[in-house]
Amino acid sequence: MDEELSLDCHDWEDLRHSFQIAADLCISKMEGVRDDAVWTPTPDRVKAHFNKALPQEGAALDSLICDFQENILPYGTGNGHPRFWGWVHGSGSAAGALGEMLAGFMNSNVGGRDHIANHVERQVIDWCKNIFDFPSSASGILTSGTSMGTIIALNVARNEKADADVQNLGVSASRRLVGYASAEAHGCNTKAFDLLGLGRESLRAIAIDDRFRMKPDMLRDKIAADRTAGLRPFVVIASVGTVNTGAIDDLCAISDICRAEGLWLHIDGAFGGLARLTDRFRGELEAMSMADSIAFDFHKWLHVPYDAGCVIIKDEAAHRAAFSARREYLESTETGLAGGAPWFCDYGPELSRGFRALKVWFTIKAYGIRKLAALIQQNCAQAKNLEAMVLAAPELELCAPTHLNIVCFRMLFDKPPQATDALNKQIVAMLQTQGIAAPSTTTIDGKTVIRVCITNHRTRSEDLALLVSEIRRLGGLIDPQV
Ligand SMILES: Cc1ncc(COP(=O)(O)O)c(C=O)c1O
Repeated sequence: MDEELSLDCHDWEDLRHSFQIAADLCISKMEGVRDDAVWTPTPDRVKAHFNKALPQEGAALDSLICDFQENILPYGTGNGHPRFWGWVHGSGSAAGALGEMLAGFMNSNVGGRDHIANHVERQVIDWCKNIFDFPSSASGILTSGTSMGTIIALNVARNEKADADVQNLGVSASRRLVGYASAEAHGCNTKAFDLLGLGRESLRAIAIDDRFRMKPDMLRDKIAADRTAGLRPFVVIASVGTVNTGAIDDLCAISDICRAEGLWLHIDGAFGGLARLTDRFRGELEAMSMADSIAFDFHKWLHVPYDAGCVIIKDEAAHRAAFSARREYLESTETGLAGGAPWFCDYGPELSRGFRALKVWFTIKAYGIRKLAALIQQNCAQAKNLEAMVLAAPELELCAPTHLNIVCFRMLFDKPPQATDALNKQIVAMLQTQGIAAPSTTTIDGKTVIRVCITNHRTRSEDLALLVSEIRRLGGLIDPQV
């Protein structure tokens, strides 16, 4: 009889050797990251390499590691580099990567059942409840990110606050449900409204003040107008760190309105929420504990490798009721592998789930929350220094106040507004393609701005000084009159 097949190797020493080579490669890359280009565009030759037919036969791991070294590793996003400040990207960490690899070996399915990964995830969630001062009776689940955490939280809020059994009968059984967020709130909130059958326009964009924060008076007025129109307000989404400028909504005022109006308070704390760990922001973010739910990410300002987010929900029973739908083949038992409680499949839409918590646990245990918090505070101080450098440079204009870790500014040109916008985009593209730095762009008050979001534990003050001098140099190159 032919030997029966398996995916295991014949020579375990060979396998150990392959892992050593791969680990060496990745650690050397991390060690030398400061000397690399921030970003290297993927050449056409390499893109073509990933346009091949489905392999019928296997290849040796060592040859795949060579392929990885040549065709994959050099062309990443660049967010491990000290001068990556685009969008909101965490910079990763060695401890987190180790946790990710070990989770791959364990290959746990964390939808439920009685095994250790559930306990690790519960441990991480308990730490988060502690960070945000949520009661120990609250629940939570690790997610792919804040986008998914938002969908989960708003699903619970929708079911709790509708005036009919929308979970079973659909949203049309209720008066039209509407919610509120600042005009600067992240697009994932609008997407969640869409996915939950509420409609994108049911998320009202509330006007902002000169610090880019939701205006509580306008919120109150809009809720009243919607009630008069026969609609059913159900949720307010407060932002702790808006994506454009890092603004923090007035949590006390918004929480008072939610309490008076009987609305669910959800907080989008994707990156800014963890600033609550710092001395600088603890007071301002004290009122996060008033929320009914908070969605936030470990992969941003805690540097856990992608992807790792979380949502915590104060009312555990409401959370479980929104997702628990176990059929006979998933029944729990008193003893055996089908025991253990709670099961995470009862707290989110997914049944099969990976062991995300391990990389979070590794990161928090390896560095300790004190150091992780100090790095958040360091990034905020670096942002303030960059703001000062911008204010001191006559050819640069600050476009929003810097409160947290984001600096929005632009180079001034003696040109019409559209040309100035285009030149600022060109500067950012040049910084990126020349591998110097990777800020991103956004639009503030109708102007294209250069946006530097520092969620980077490798950034040093000299990196930001270099950014300013390179922007001025490139600005002078593309318009010598500057
Ligand atoms: C304020 C804010 N909310 C939500 C999100 C979405 O988070 P994720 O990309 O983890 O889904 C982001 C992403 O940058 C964000 O900055």
